[in-house]
Amino acid sequence: MRIYRAKDEQDLARKAANIMSAQIIMKPDCVLGLATGASPVGLYNQLVEWYRKGDLDFSCVRTVNLDEYKGMAPDSPQSYHMFMWEHLFSRVNIRPERVFLPDGLAPDSNTECLRYNAVITGLGGIDMQLLGIGVNGHIGFNEPGEEFAKEVHCVKLTESTKQANQKYFPDGRMPDYAYTMGIKSIMQAKRILLIAKGEKKAKALAASLQGPITPEIPASILQLHNDLTVVADDDALSLMR
Ligand code: F6R
Repeated sequence: MRIYRAKDEQDLARKAANIMSAQIIMKPDCVLGLATGASPVGLYNQLVEWYRKGDLDFSCVRTVNLDEYKGMAPDSPQSYHMFMWEHLFSRVNIRPERVFLPDGLAPDSNTECLRYNAVITGLGGIDMQLLGIGVNGHIGFNEPGEEFAKEVHCVKLTESTKQANQKYFPDGRMPDYAYTMGIKSIMQAKRILLIAKGEKKAKALAASLQGPITPEIPASILQLHNDLTVVADDDALSLMR
């Protein structure tokens, strides 16, 4: 495990973007596993800036996102589809047919999970998986108590996760379920890049990286990954021994 300490938000974004850019440069047709939420916004902005300067080319890159709300239309403002198009896809030269997310509107959950698993396998697996971490230690939407052995599945969101994401649903109507890559799908990625900022993440980060490996802290399994890079700010690292 490598841990890089970022001195501020911009430094965190640049460090993480450097690591992801290196992946794209070394393997132009790499498969990137992507995340949404507040954590990766600066990283995506930095990638866009380097793309505009001519330093990065996304024309062969393929992406698979970690998760999507069940029941959410792709063009709904709170969908993860929309988030990805706004923050990254529409701003770089990635091909629309090479970006993949779970289909929130799929009529049957089991079929959708199998389909999305097959998408990941069909791409040959993930070269680099980007992760944020929830205040309860979740990764993707793998909530505390979730089995480590799962691949793509549909989960009921916990109250903690709903509270953390409530700000994106001003009408208060947040979905109860989401599709997520499972821990097994995440652990099968060749490389993992975990980013965390702010003191709200300090407890989960310390427990995940230095505590016992337990399904109660889903991110703790990452200790067993042989190519994990963490980029975090001082606040997020403040409870590390
Ligand atoms: C997002 C995702 C989540 C977030 C986590 C942290 O695709 O899978 O696990 O990474 O909830 O969210 P932020 O970055 O908003 O604190």
